[in-house]
Amino acid sequence: MKKILVRPDDSVFVLTGAGISAESGLPAFRASDGLWAGYRVEDVCTPDAWRRDPAGVWAFYAARRDAGQKALPNPAHTALAELEAQLPGRFFLCTQNVDDLHERAGSVNLLHMHGELAKSRCERECGRPPVEDRTVYRALDDVPRCPCGGRLRPHIVFFGEIPLEMDRIQDEIAKAKLMLVVGTSGSVYPAASFVHWARQRGERTVYIGPEEPLNASAFTHVLEGKAGELLPGLIHVENMSSN
Ligand code: OAD
Repeated sequence: MKKILVRPDDSVFVLTGAGISAESGLPAFRASDGLWAGYRVEDVCTPDAWRRDPAGVWAFYAARRDAGQKALPNPAHTALAELEAQLPGRFFLCTQNVDDLHERAGSVNLLHMHGELAKSRCERECGRPPVEDRTVYRALDDVPRCPCGGRLRPHIVFFGEIPLEMDRIQDEIAKAKLMLVVGTSGSVYPAASFVHWARQRGERTVYIGPEEPLNASAFTHVLEGKAGELLPGLIHVENMSSN
């Protein structure tokens, strides 16, 4: 397969979704046998669900925490960490995933726009930052309270809430010359619009996944296949002397 070239001085913006963790055994969201199967999103991943049934929401995310901790990074996560190492100061990874497989593969300049399974935060806007929390709670009574009295909730962006650090994401897209999008169905906004922002700026935009995403027409290249098979060795970083 033809390599994707990163030219000297070009910056790369990467967006990943659930598909990149599929080969690590974590099911994607919209697969027929996927994560939401048996669960309606409204029952486990909305502010309303949290208000009505915090025990149910915690049961769902405790199970995700447990599965995430048992999973291992796959060759796609490793390929992105290796690419970052070749592009000091020129690589940014934005993931919609709440697992920590990117950081466990070695990625550093990384933002979790939909939150992180390994953290919890106060349900109130009390100003305390999220705390690291890997406990797999078995019952709501086991979930600690914040010093302000609020209950700790998973540090997850529920549907209807605003994704994290959107200003920083926009800045990073504006800096990039190449956008790589891996394993996301293009159905959840605003992440699905990042490719449009990049195209408006004339960036090359490459999608990698086994099927076309919903926003496929916005990509300059769509490479169909599994991320763990396509990504290793796909990107060639040119340096000044290889010009
Ligand atoms: P989806 O489940 O919607 O899409 C997963 C995509 O991964 C699909 O397009 C699959 O074709 C693709 N895929 C499957 N196996 C793959 C592989 N081995 N290599 C590469 N791609 C593969 O998941 P997302 O698009 O990530 O939000 O979902 C976006 C957001 O919706 C999630 O972050 C989550 C969810 O609701 C929140 O939790 C707030």
